[in-house]
Amino acid sequence: MKLMIVYATTEGHTRTIAEFLEKEAEKKEITAGLFDATVKPPSPEEYDAVIVAASIHAGKYQSAIEHFVQEHHQSLNRMKSLFVSVSLTAAADEPESWKELKQQTEDFLLSTGWNPAHVEYTAGALLYTKYDYLKRFIMRMISKKAGGDTDTSKDHVYTDWEKLKSVLGRVI
Ligand SMILES: Cc1cc2nc3c(=O)[nH]c(=O)nc-3n(C[C@H](O)[C@H](O)[C@H](O)COP(=O)(O)O)c2cc1C
Repeated sequence: MKLMIVYATTEGHTRTIAEFLEKEAEKKEITAGLFDATVKPPSPEEYDAVIVAASIHAGKYQSAIEHFVQEHHQSLNRMKSLFVSVSLTAAADEPESWKELKQQTEDFLLSTGWNPAHVEYTAGALLYTKYDYLKRFIMRMISKKAGGDTDTSKDHVYTDWEKLKSVLGRVI
């Protein structure tokens, strides 16, 4: 069994998630190939199952992942495939934000023609220490409004690693 994991990231947290999934797969003696969507990944045809992971920024997933999925949607639709959607919306229980996130994801899947077996909504991270001044300021403001973390001297990770582990079972 060969598993392909393709990810797109802006600040790096989705790469951490993809690496975690790779390690968990290897613990189960699954050969996993990890690919950054911006570095021309191989065709999924060479694999038995695929996990695609990307994060939301201003309502959109990274264009590199959109290109990858669009190019390979027919192969992806023929095999076991799973989408890991990373966002801050998934860290909170805000029905309006969830509605938007689900719509944004539906739009992404519709525009790429991909029909994954499952979409796993995963809470991402507030990486204050990695943002530039403006991004830190804006993210702190958004977080404050949502009642979230505002201590910019450290990063805040909301990912539920145990839940992520269990999604592997959907493709392997
Ligand atoms: C500039 C910026 C815009 C963001 N926009 C959204 C958004 O529209 N919806 C959302 O749920 N999360 C949003 N987020 C949260 C990210 O999805 C979250 O921080 C995620 O962990 C980023 O993953 P990455 O490090 O792989 O890029 C945004 C984060 C940043 C820094």
